[in-house]
Amino acid sequence: TCRVVVLVSGAGSNLAALLAAHGDPAYGARVVGVVSDKPAAGGLTLARTAGVPTAVVAPQDFADRPAWDVALAESIGVFHPDLVVCAGFMRIIGSPTLERFAPRILNTHPALLPSFPGAHGVRDALAYGVRVTGCTVHLLDAGVDTGPIVAQGVVGVEPDDDEASLHERIKAVERELLVRTVGEVARGGLRVEGRRVVVG
Ligand code: GAR
Repeated sequence: TCRVVVLVSGAGSNLAALLAAHGDPAYGARVVGVVSDKPAAGGLTLARTAGVPTAVVAPQDFADRPAWDVALAESIGVFHPDLVVCAGFMRIIGSPTLERFAPRILNTHPALLPSFPGAHGVRDALAYGVRVTGCTVHLLDAGVDTGPIVAQGVVGVEPDDDEASLHERIKAVERELLVRTVGEVARGGLRVEGRRVVVG
């Protein structure tokens, strides 16, 4: 079974979907640890309820950014993951984690990359006036949402959408896409050929 560590900063609805899937041995992946930068993240509560060990690596507990980056890599490493999944982790991940775990780090983003990277993908897509947006699961690299794309899902924008309503519909597609993609990667592995990712 593929050992998965999930990084969360927020509510953890994507984590919840992974936790709902991982009980089935046929799924091929098991969440073995959840790491957050925020002590109050809802995702931590979800993990504890599911009996999954957690760790908090809060920037305020470290002298500087490089020290936090090293601590993040170490706290992920404690769980010996085969795959790391950023599911609403709202911080840029530095080289200690990348050097140790890439390319086996997935991120999920609430827009169709390369459009609307960054912390406000839903808001930015809405403000631009696109009629179609969605979500992207991609490999993490040193840029902001620039890594090779693994999977995407499409969501139409409705005339009366606001950021919250659009994000809700994106999240419904996103959690299915993430669960499917993590399972496929867990069972089949992944290969990177330039910008193309081959799963299975
Ligand atoms: C998700 O929509 C995820 O794509 C987004 O935060 C949400 C987390 O929801 N991530 C980013 O915007 C990263 N730039 P969740 O905590 O309920 O899973």
